[in-house]
Amino acid sequence: MIQAEDVVKHYGDVHALNGISLSVDRGEVYGLLGPNGAGKTTLVRILATLVKPSSGRCLVGGIDAHQNPMAVRALIGLAGQSAAVDDLLTGRENLEIVGRLYQFSRAEARRRADDILERMSLTDAADRQVRTYSGGMRRRIDLGASLVGRPEVLMLDEPTTGLDPRTRNDLWQLIHQLVDEGTTLLLTTQYLDEADELAHRLGVIDQGKIIAEGTPDELKERLGGDRLQASPANPADMERTKAVLASVGDGEPYIDERRQLVSVPVADRIKSLLAAGQSFEDQDLALRDLSVSRPSLDDVFLAITGKKAEDSSGEGETA
Ligand SMILES: Nc1ncnc2c1ncn2[C@@H]1O[C@H](COP(=O)(O)OP(=O)(O)O)[C@@H](O)[C@H]1O
Ligand SMILES: [Mg+2]
Repeated sequence: MIQAEDVVKHYGDVHALNGISLSVDRGEVYGLLGPNGAGKTTLVRILATLVKPSSGRCLVGGIDAHQNPMAVRALIGLAGQSAAVDDLLTGRENLEIVGRLYQFSRAEARRRADDILERMSLTDAADRQVRTYSGGMRRRIDLGASLVGRPEVLMLDEPTTGLDPRTRNDLWQLIHQLVDEGTTLLLTTQYLDEADELAHRLGVIDQGKIIAEGTPDELKERLGGDRLQASPANPADMERTKAVLASVGDGEPYIDERRQLVSVPVADRIKSLLAAGQSFEDQDLALRDLSVSRPSLDDVFLAITGKKAEDSSGEGETA
């Protein structure tokens, strides 16, 4: 349903996309996972016909997005980072206007708006101006607006960034429902847990390139699965902590200064946790925390690119 072939986009000297190819089957959820500035929004806007690529080809539902943008627009719904809804209008008015843009009759636009308000649990707020909505309600009305045309293909650009965990979860449930109904979904996110929750298949994007692709499980396996993390009670003990993790882990430990911890990939979580506990005890090294967790996006990036996600917009300072 979605196909990108070697898509390149340059803005002057800025190489936003450096040759992206991907394809998404009907009914599939494809997650594009990557940090700020990786090129996610640029790709989504190109696929949605809003931006022209410098080179490469995009097909949506088999139709060339740049030769026949109107036909592609009829197939897709897009909910972006910059909300498309008008603050000064009510939720219902916003949805009705979208319906009118699709050239539905006044009655049909009204019917669809009511349906969507109901699904998005916004019926009670339907007649309030959108500017009075909470962050979660705004995302829901924005998602709702993308559904008015009952699109076969939905593109969601960071649908939950900045939301609190509960509100995120509500939105995930809504997205699950849409997928259950057969919608093909391209989703971008900065969060591994979100990609994990929603995507059937993932592409990890960095500096305008897809650097890894697979199911969430495949990627996690490849990334070394679980990670053992330790925070010394005294920040001066980082290097000693690193040495302990090097001896009990199954890979190269690294120091995450921001989170004040050291982490290392482990093959057997329990065995490594016990060995680390014993070793810290033996060395009388006091800890603030010791735990095993799934890889964070930082870890994913470190494993694939050998550098931290935050550094990825800079040029090769790290090996
Ligand atoms: N209109 C534009 N003009 C110039 N540079 C742009 C423009 N849009 C995006 N970029 C640059 O392209 C790169 C990718 O941006 P973007 O696609 O927004 O990334 P993401 O959505 O993953 O955060 C960034 O370096 C960004 O600054
Ligand atoms: Mg973006």
